[in-house]
Amino acid sequence: MAALADLHVLYEQAVQDVEAEINFVEQTWAELRQRPAVVLREDFCGTANTACEWVIRDDNHHAIGVDLDSDVLNWGRLNRLSQLDEEQLKRIELLNEDVAQTCPGQVDIILAMNFSYYLFMKRQELRDYFINVLDGLVSDGILFLDAYGGYEAPMVLTESRECQDEDGNKFTYIWEQASFNPIDSSMNCQIHFEFPDESRIDHAFDYCWRLWTLPEIREILYEAGFSKVDIYWEGTDEEQNEGNGIYTPSEIGDADPGWVCYIVCQA
Ligand SMILES: C[S@@+](CC[C@H](N)C(=O)[O-])C[C@H]1O[C@@H](n2cnc3c(N)ncnc32)[C@H](O)[C@@H]1O
Repeated sequence: MAALADLHVLYEQAVQDVEAEINFVEQTWAELRQRPAVVLREDFCGTANTACEWVIRDDNHHAIGVDLDSDVLNWGRLNRLSQLDEEQLKRIELLNEDVAQTCPGQVDIILAMNFSYYLFMKRQELRDYFINVLDGLVSDGILFLDAYGGYEAPMVLTESRECQDEDGNKFTYIWEQASFNPIDSSMNCQIHFEFPDESRIDHAFDYCWRLWTLPEIREILYEAGFSKVDIYWEGTDEEQNEGNGIYTPSEIGDADPGWVCYIVCQA
């Protein structure tokens, strides 16, 4: 089963929810701006799944996906853009470029999701990236980031979750925080997959990240020139005692073992 599996399909099924992500983006934009957003740039776009969701949502939407890896972009062209109709295809463009350097023209929204910007290890690198993002936004543009943390985030641990692909085939998603160095906050994280026949794909994806904290990210965004940076924290479903999927601007969060939040950064 491992030999037959497609890594990008497994990744998308296990860690992405592009509909919920674009719902959040559209709703937050509507709350903050009195005009519709048209052009969205997806940084670190990988398979461009989210960029495709943006162009599908509305006939006026345009998307630009940016990724350094030509292989993943080609996979996206063959497997995701190929599912768009001719008209939608005219409204999406993929760029094989470095997000820290890219300048495809100013857009309304830039997304950098699934913590991809944690790959910048130095404060100066992260600041330079945010400065390039700000240059790429129109005057009322918005950058959407996500972030993760909590007291389990710097721990060496492995956790797993049962998933299934679009055809109903089951697999296990395994997230491993393999190492953490408290001196520079660098960490190595890995994604592995396991299948019902016990075959595995180890090290499907490896990440060398810095575990940034929310105050650091916020300070660096302000240093880069953003005018307003809000943390959107997830509410709690009191009955289930777990996240309810509703994110609102907050100044106080819970000391959870693991949390994910959105950061909404206005140009
Ligand atoms: C964790 S994946 C994120 C995929 C997708 N955005 C998501 O939300 O799941 C990170 C992607 O960032 C790309 N990447 C890494 N460094 C980059 C850079 N400097 N510029 C552009 N893309 C980069 C990798 O090729 C990879 O496809």
